Amino acid sequence: MGNGSCKLIIHGGAGRLEGKVATKEQYRLGLCEALGPAYETLCEKGARAGVMHAIRLLESDPIFNAGTGSKLQRDGRVRMSAALMDSEDAVFSGVINIYDVEHPIEVAHSLRDESHHVLSGSEATEYARRKGFGFHDPITMARFIEYRKALRSREKFGTVGAVAVDEKGIVAAGTSTGGVGHEIPGRVSDSASVAGTFADSAGGVSCTGKGEHIINQAVAAQVVSRLRDNIPLKRILTELMKEGASRKHEFGLISLDRNGKFGVRSTRRSISVLYALKDSQHELNFTDGGRNLIL
Ligand code: GLY
Repeated sequence: MGNGSCKLIIHGGAGRLEGKVATKEQYRLGLCEALGPAYETLCEKGARAGVMHAIRLLESDPIFNAGTGSKLQRDGRVRMSAALMDSEDAVFSGVINIYDVEHPIEVAHSLRDESHHVLSGSEATEYARRKGFGFHDPITMARFIEYRKALRSREKFGTVGAVAVDEKGIVAAGTSTGGVGHEIPGRVSDSASVAGTFADSAGGVSCTGKGEHIINQAVAAQVVSRLRDNIPLKRILTELMKEGASRKHEFGLISLDRNGKFGVRSTRRSISVLYALKDSQHELNFTDGGRNLIL
């Protein structure tokens, strides 16, 4: 497989909404360090493998709110959600509020082969153990201090995600999150739903921001469904963000359409999606690509 038509875009959450565990430059470096190896995997092994590689690396980087470094919920525990979908077999699989695993995205991936594709809570964690995923405590000191300091703070959000198109035109999207921080235990985020993660042969989307808002607009599924109707990505994103802004929604997304067009948008000027993208002609990240990007 050559590099010619492989395209990858990844995100590390939604700018100022990420909290204060890292600087803008650290987020940029973290994304760029994941981008190169994941792009190699995409070009060698296809879209799903590329997305999985990117998300695994971001889940391992403690500055991102997914896997290790996830935010703590109101009861001081970490519960994580992740999902994966691609156009090869159009199976959506995910885990909701899983705990004590290193890579929620790997458990989501493993569920593709089961008769039930989405599991939650203790049953998701028990499933992971049965499948050989060992115990891993994802709480970092920085997140624990943030939790203790912010007991009455406003919600902040954060997520990681990736969308890829490979040389065969297969599209894959994945998202992984530690949630918004300080949420009521049991809250269900958008990430392991078709509002936060969706892919089919028309395109793929991974969202970041306030899950409740993303679910209200069924964002990822709506973008892809409109792409299927041959509406241009730019128009879809412009209309969706306008609607989101008018409803005071706070979210952003990364996307790729079947033609390999990248799209990054958010509902508010103050929410800049932290992203990095790569294809055979471009390598850009949020510090040189601007807040809104259609490429
Ligand atoms: N978008 C991540 C969350 O709301 O949990």
